[in-house]
This record gives sequence, structure tokens and C-alpha cells, in this order.
Amino acid sequence: VVNAVCEATNKIDRDAVRIWFATWPVLVRELLGDGADTPRLQQFFQMNGSFRLEQLADRSHRFLYGHRYWHLVKKALASQAEGDRYLRIEKAAKESGAPMEYALAMAAIAQMTLEQCGPSFLSSEYVPEPKGDFVLDRASAYRPSLMERLKGKSGCDRVIFDERDQDGWFPIVATQEITTGAELDKRPFHDTDARCYEGMGPIPVDCRSGSCGTCWVGIVGGNENLDPVEEFERKRMEYFGYWDSGFVDSNCPRPLIRLACQARANGSVSIVIPPWNGVFGRTRREKELGN
Ligand code: FES
Repeated sequence: VVNAVCEATNKIDRDAVRIWFATWPVLVRELLGDGADTPRLQQFFQMNGSFRLEQLADRSHRFLYGHRYWHLVKKALASQAEGDRYLRIEKAAKESGAPMEYALAMAAIAQMTLEQCGPSFLSSEYVPEPKGDFVLDRASAYRPSLMERLKGKSGCDRVIFDERDQDGWFPIVATQEITTGAELDKRPFHDTDARCYEGMGPIPVDCRSGSCGTCWVGIVGGNENLDPVEEFERKRMEYFGYWDSGFVDSNCPRPLIRLACQARANGSVSIVIPPWNGVFGRTRREKELGN
């Protein structure tokens, strides 16, 4: 389903859709179950952050351009009868009235949210803010306005970590690891993400050496500006379980999910910071690949 949806999706959202499916795999939901045994399982899989999709059902996909059509797609999906998964997605997308090049992806996300969380989110009153054009300029360098230049600001490459916020970025210097650039950003991100340490920037980190899996990020723009993934990072990603069949080619040199403490940038990139991290690669391989 993911591949079929991506093929029909506008290139603006194509990678973002894959990143959403990598961030919210059914497997994690299955591992954690209905919540009755969460503390033990959370400890076993070293899960941190907000790993319950139902807590973020209406906002988990805000980094997609198609997010603006979410309420329309949800309404259309709620009226679909039970049946073939892809047909439900396709019908909901068509009946939503939103452009198919975005609606199909949003309907697939809505269907997957439904399967993981149940139908209660379908009736929420949430209507996306009329924002979204920001993604048309993904991975852009910082270009100060005339006024800003007069105040002494100069342009730079940057890592955009929240495209909806004009201040949601930090500068990056060539060959710098993404987390090294992030660390120089001293804003109080620990106020909004309990995984962040004070003064360590917006990307949660722990080991900074590829050992913990805390710093995983999705690359929604500017992937070509990152150094190719090295064998060590690839192996660690497999160990954590972030590397999955949602990628077209798991051997590709620039995958859509990276460890920010290992990925070096040579230009501007746009990233998504997943709201949770964990270690479940071995279980994933056992369940999905049967080995
Ligand atoms: S901070 Fe531990 S893997 Fe990057």
C-alpha cells in the first residue's frame, strides 16, 4: 500500500509519507499492545517519548503538505464501509474533494491511524491551520531580508526541524554532524520535549556515538546534502529497528531515516524529529522477516 500510495503522491510529500510510515509502524503498536503492560514493554524496548499514536492522531503528519486536507479525508474515511484496505483509502481520497496527489497519502495515513488507534479520532473537531506552503521551499538556505542584512545578519546553510515555524531551524556548517549544529541552539527545547536536555538543542541525544538510537530523524528535504550513510550507522539503524521495508531500497546510500549524531551535512536539510525512540530491531527482524 505504501509503495502504491507514494507513486501517486506529489513529490513534495512522497518522502514525507514514507517517513510517517517509518515513524508509526504497525509493529510498534503490536509490540506495545493495548497499554495494559506498557511500563514493562517500554522498559524492554527502551521506549522514550510519545510512542502512542492515539495521543497525536491529528498532528502526527503536520510535516506533510497534504495535512491541510486531513479533516476532509477523515470525514470521507468515516463514511466508508468495511472492506478492502486500499479500496477504502482510494474511495475516501476521492470523496474528500481534496487533490488526489495529496489526498491519497492522507487517506492512507488516516486508515493506518484507524487500524492502530480505533475510530475515536475520526470524530474529533480538529481542523488544520491554513499553513503549509512552507514545504514548497524545503531544505532552503537562510536568506536574510534586507532589514535583517542591515542589522548584520548573513545567510547560511541550515537544518530546518520545524517547517511550520519560521524560527524552527539552526545553522549548519559543512561536514558538521546534525547534532553538533543542533547543540549550539540554546533555546529551551526541554520545555516541550522531555527527552531533550537543557542547552542541547532541539534533537534529543544521549550517547552521540550511535549507541542509543535517541537521535533518529526523518529527512524530508535536502537528502542529497548529507554524506552517504556509513556501514556503522547502517548497522546501528538495523539494531534499533528504524530501518524497515518502508524504504524502497534499504541499501540506498542516503536513506530517509538517519541518526543525527552520525549524519554529516554539506548544505541545508529539512528534518522531522520523531516524538519517540526505542530499540526493537531484533524483534522486528524476527516478526517481519522470520529470522
Ligand atoms: S545520540 Fe545516541 S545514537 Fe545518536
